[in-house]
Amino acid sequence: MPEPSPQASPVDLAHLPRHVAVIMDGNGRWAKARGLPRLAGHRAGTKSLRRLIESCIEIGIPYLTIYAFSTENWKRPVHEVRGLMFLLEEVIQRQLDELDANGVRIRHVGWLDQVPKHLQHAIASAIQRTAANRRLTLSVAFNYGARAEIVRAVRDIVLAQTPASEIDEACIERHLQTAGLPDPDLVIRTSGEMRLSNFLLWQAAYAEFYCTETLWPDFDRADLVAALRSYAVRERRFGVLPPAEGGGSAGRPADPSLRDASYG
Ligand code: IPE
Ligand code: IPE
Ligand code: MG
Repeated sequence: MPEPSPQASPVDLAHLPRHVAVIMDGNGRWAKARGLPRLAGHRAGTKSLRRLIESCIEIGIPYLTIYAFSTENWKRPVHEVRGLMFLLEEVIQRQLDELDANGVRIRHVGWLDQVPKHLQHAIASAIQRTAANRRLTLSVAFNYGARAEIVRAVRDIVLAQTPASEIDEACIERHLQTAGLPDPDLVIRTSGEMRLSNFLLWQAAYAEFYCTETLWPDFDRADLVAALRSYAVRERRFGVLPPAEGGGSAGRPADPSLRDASYG
């Protein structure tokens, strides 16, 4: 694993995203193009993932979230679902020492109740072992879906008998799977698709998107750098006008019910 060498990195370090989220897509098409079974594509995808983690550490990105298995992916053939579970466990077994040694903190977003017990234990022990690491927080979205996440958050808030006046954006965020993580600044999707597929719907409200035709198993450091360069020259506005056009002179919403933050 290379040491961080930001000075040597060909990206605009002043405008690095703090949190990159990746929809790793195209494994099946990668395999099909080679006459291989889909699982061969998923296996090749684990190599890309390793490269991605190394590159994030080297470039100095502190938060990385990867979409590895969606709540909708259960609808795939059972042998593919089993293969994906097997591969995650294998990745943990083979890469945990290196991830830990490189300061990677592993988090899981999603729900583990439906996954095999041995995978549950592997994930739990990886989280526990790496809990004190801070160089890169790697959140693995596995059996994750944003709609289910929001439904569960609302249920938890209701079950806690939270008064309506206390339900605001911060309250909802505390009940999401990603509680404590910054929102993603940049969402990358491979394989030419341009959709979120139920990934981080709440958290990506103001994320920048980068889509590439590259299939996930082919995604390498140069692809990541291209995404970071694209991000670096974008102007993020968050609904505010740029200063030269009057930004900063806060107006008042005509309809008081539209005030954000207080919802009063
Ligand atoms: C992404 O690759 C991996 C998962 C969804 C688990 P796909 O399996 O979706 O590959 P394509 O989209 O069929 O090529
Ligand atoms: C999104 O990819 C889920 C993951 C990458 C894990 P899919 O391949 O499942 O999404 P759709 O079906 O193209 O929307
Ligand atoms: Mg796909």
